Amino acid sequence: MKLLVTGGAGFIGSHAVLEFLLAGHDVLSLDNYSNSSPEALKRVAKLAGRAPEVLEGDLRDEALLLALMREKRFDAVVHFAGLKAVGESVEKPLIYVDNNIVGSAHLLKAMKDVGCKNLVFSSSCTVYGMPQKNPIGEDHPRSALNPYGRSKLVIEDMCFDLARSESGWHMALLRYFNPVGAHDSGDIGEDPRGIPNNLVPFVMQTAVGRHPHVNVWGKDYPTPDGTGIRDYIHVVDLAKAHLAAVERIASFNGAEPVNLGTGKGYSVLDVISAAGKAAGKDIPYKVGPRRAGDAPEVWGNPSLAAKKLGWTCEKGLGEMVADHWRWQKKNPEGYKAG
Ligand code: WQD
Repeated sequence: MKLLVTGGAGFIGSHAVLEFLLAGHDVLSLDNYSNSSPEALKRVAKLAGRAPEVLEGDLRDEALLLALMREKRFDAVVHFAGLKAVGESVEKPLIYVDNNIVGSAHLLKAMKDVGCKNLVFSSSCTVYGMPQKNPIGEDHPRSALNPYGRSKLVIEDMCFDLARSESGWHMALLRYFNPVGAHDSGDIGEDPRGIPNNLVPFVMQTAVGRHPHVNVWGKDYPTPDGTGIRDYIHVVDLAKAHLAAVERIASFNGAEPVNLGTGKGYSVLDVISAAGKAAGKDIPYKVGPRRAGDAPEVWGNPSLAAKKLGWTCEKGLGEMVADHWRWQKKNPEGYKAG
């Protein structure tokens, strides 16, 4: 298949591009490198033994998108591009409207214009808001806890509305839980700009000495060890799910959501302890106050993914932190030095 991958240089995008290339698909990555590095795709090309086409560009450039879709006639679009820092979205909500929502609207319009009706969209468990119960199924009510989550929810609704407005759309809305880990080569991985919001990159940066300790945001939750529980999923498992979704996209009638999680929850202290084992050192942490908006537990029911995609996770927490550690140790400053 001929695939347009938006955000192809990003953490999940780069791992997905690698799986697409290895499976023999042709890929063009469109990325503005606002939170990623072109170096990632150079390394993907080495790992795949063949290169994706690479174009620097922004989804807010409607004319560029239209010209690209008309010229290349893609079989499907895999849409990762988007800002995803919860804290930043609270401080700068209009940037999330412009970048995530408007950018996605331009993409959908360009797809409609050329009749490319196959879309795999990078959605998120964040659309479930505060979980009413775990495990979370795709039928769980949706709500937004912050402007980032709202952007994902609005983009999903644009997909539902478009699919209802005319026949022939095949859209997989993949709702990720907590993506972590890295390709086992250690050559590609997560390289967040600034101080990471998310737990695992912060833990790994602490392990290589970039922070004095990990902050554990709350140890008074109603959970076995008092810390927050999440459904961590290996980024390579996630990438393989995108390959399955794009190859089975014709089986999606209209826009259909699918959870991508392991169905298992691990606490913050579980993660810190597993990361310490992988790094061969104790990772220091300090307990601080709860983080606003955090839920005690968030973990998914992955059974629909098994049915729709014929896909299940293969990697557990040990492999996630071991692979993430290998990437961090080989690239203590991320792609910067690359
Ligand atoms: C995990 C746990 C924190 C940092 C994220 C994204 C969201 C979605 C799901 C993609 C929580 C605790 C964290 C730290 C800590 N992904 N924590 N110290 O909040 O579940 O959501 O993944 O769309 O967009 O935001 O992930 O890694 O921030 O937090 O104690 O320094 O770790 O309280 O319990 P979260 P997270």
